[in-house]
Amino acid sequence: MCGIIGYVGQQDAVQVILEGLRRVEYRGYDSAGIAIAVDGKLAVAKRSGKLGSLAAQLAEHPLPSSGCGIGHTRWATHGGPNDTNAHPHVSADGRVALVHNGIIENFAELRAELELRGVTFISQTDTEAAAQLLALELALTNDLTVAMRTVCTRLKGAFTLVALDTQNPECLVAARRDSPLVVGVGDGENFVASDVASFIMHTREALELGQNQVVTLTRNSVQVSDFDGEPAEPQHFHVDWSPAAAEKAGFDWFMRKEIFEQPRAVFDTLLGRSDAAGRLLLDEIRIDTNELRLIDKIVVVACGSAYYAGLVAKYAIEHWIRVPVEVELASEFRYRDPIVNSRTLCVTISQSGETMDTLQAIRHARVQGAKVIAICNTVGATIARESDAVLYTRAGPEIAVASTKGFLTQVSAAYLLGLYLAQLRGTMFADEVERYLTELSEVPDKIQQVLDQAERVYALAADVVDTQDFIFLGRHVGSAVALEGALKLKEIAYLHAEGFAAGELKHGPIAIIDETTPVFVVVPPPGAGQLHDKVISNIQEVRARGARVVVLAERGDVAAGSCADYLLELPPTSVLLQPLTASVPLQLFACELATLLGNDVDQPRNLAKSVTVE
Ligand code: G6P
Repeated sequence: MCGIIGYVGQQDAVQVILEGLRRVEYRGYDSAGIAIAVDGKLAVAKRSGKLGSLAAQLAEHPLPSSGCGIGHTRWATHGGPNDTNAHPHVSADGRVALVHNGIIENFAELRAELELRGVTFISQTDTEAAAQLLALELALTNDLTVAMRTVCTRLKGAFTLVALDTQNPECLVAARRDSPLVVGVGDGENFVASDVASFIMHTREALELGQNQVVTLTRNSVQVSDFDGEPAEPQHFHVDWSPAAAEKAGFDWFMRKEIFEQPRAVFDTLLGRSDAAGRLLLDEIRIDTNELRLIDKIVVVACGSAYYAGLVAKYAIEHWIRVPVEVELASEFRYRDPIVNSRTLCVTISQSGETMDTLQAIRHARVQGAKVIAICNTVGATIARESDAVLYTRAGPEIAVASTKGFLTQVSAAYLLGLYLAQLRGTMFADEVERYLTELSEVPDKIQQVLDQAERVYALAADVVDTQDFIFLGRHVGSAVALEGALKLKEIAYLHAEGFAAGELKHGPIAIIDETTPVFVVVPPPGAGQLHDKVISNIQEVRARGARVVVLAERGDVAAGSCADYLLELPPTSVLLQPLTASVPLQLFACELATLLGNDVDQPRNLAKSVTVE
């Protein structure tokens, strides 16, 4: 939640910051603000609403020119989304401006203490307590870095902070604990941001900050230390994403662009993972192979779409390695005293690598002795760093809040992991592993075949634009596809949508179906035998209640086609790989319907892409 950027260099800070905020606006968009320091004073512009409102205000009332500043785009936690609660927050003495991502859990206590010391607060935010405290410390030390370290040791909770001091206006100080912060290292200019997307048009050289670290930036220097003042050596990395990857490239929405990028994203995720003999090589899984042979349980923890990717993966991994797989919502995991030990492999799935619920679940699993493998899209993210191993999904930046290419690449990576473990543990013959790898390599082309039918999906969306309730059904891996299809529609079309395992329908949910309800059914390939036939029976049950049935079925599946009111054809695949194609029409459908309804597809109400609070 919340996007942050700080800039120091020769360019106009306001322009650099506005552009950088535009690229992290997916992290929160209920208000935005910028602060610069000029002539010993702060100049601040902040505005409720999306970044566009702030940009319009700045166009009318520009801030003075400066080479150093901080900016923020907010997803409100403490205090409503109004102008006053927008960041940056300025200390009562006017010396310090601060932006913050996270939650300061002891803010009420700090606020009470500061009020006793005579400080007057003007906002309802937790952040203002940190800004006021920072100013008091700065008055004592006259050194923003030292003051920041002291403040950080007093804060409880998760935070990224970036501060600007009017007395030293060409320097920024930032700090992090449990919230993301990366440094961009340029030529005569430096950046701090929540996400590299904010600065990749200026530099692709970056530094990862560790936990509990403070960084001090000037145009030509970057100094990192821990909260005790001990110097720290940050890890350098090069960002492979091209700046163009963070642009819409002619699409109306990032989401639509990201849906159409899926053939490439899945291709890249699979790339170079096996040798000439077809053996999977996951070099990045640096966990002792003997330990991996001994595991007797796998626990997948994730949130949102990543959780549904885990549900899909469970079917494949259990089938391939014959080890029980539990899939758990990260937010529930550590609160139910899960049975986890050194023979448990915890697989965590997160596009952003910053989801706080998931991060806390990993920490809990590791304390219990489990090894953790992260499936993650963001290089250097906290979840990747805090896991024992990481398998990157190479989807490129996912900007739209609703996950699409993130989801498909997560499923692909989880399948690679399942096949790798099967190979390692000898639960599959080499030729079986190779057969699945070959089939996986054909998936990008099959996704493209589905995308080529986008117009047919769009016509369906236009046809049901006045409908309020939708049902999605599937069996086996298709039940997770149904859940994901319903989630997409809820997230961006704000419509009531539910996903069910098709066989469960008759145990209750069928009561809500009538002739107004479109029911989407993912039909397993005819080669899946009984599974296929059972779903055809489920379609008949639904049709008998008068519902309109949208069937997603393999091309040439006559049985499925004959009971469809609307047929969306899928290329032939094995049942386990079908989610990689069957999810795509559901993504296109949600994107189109939300567009027709006039919603902001990329930034749906109440949501944020990266949920860095519990
Ligand atoms: C948020 C987003 C979802 C996403 C979930 C998990 O709720 O709105 O689209 O699936 O977080 O995100 P992660 O980055 O951990 O995959």
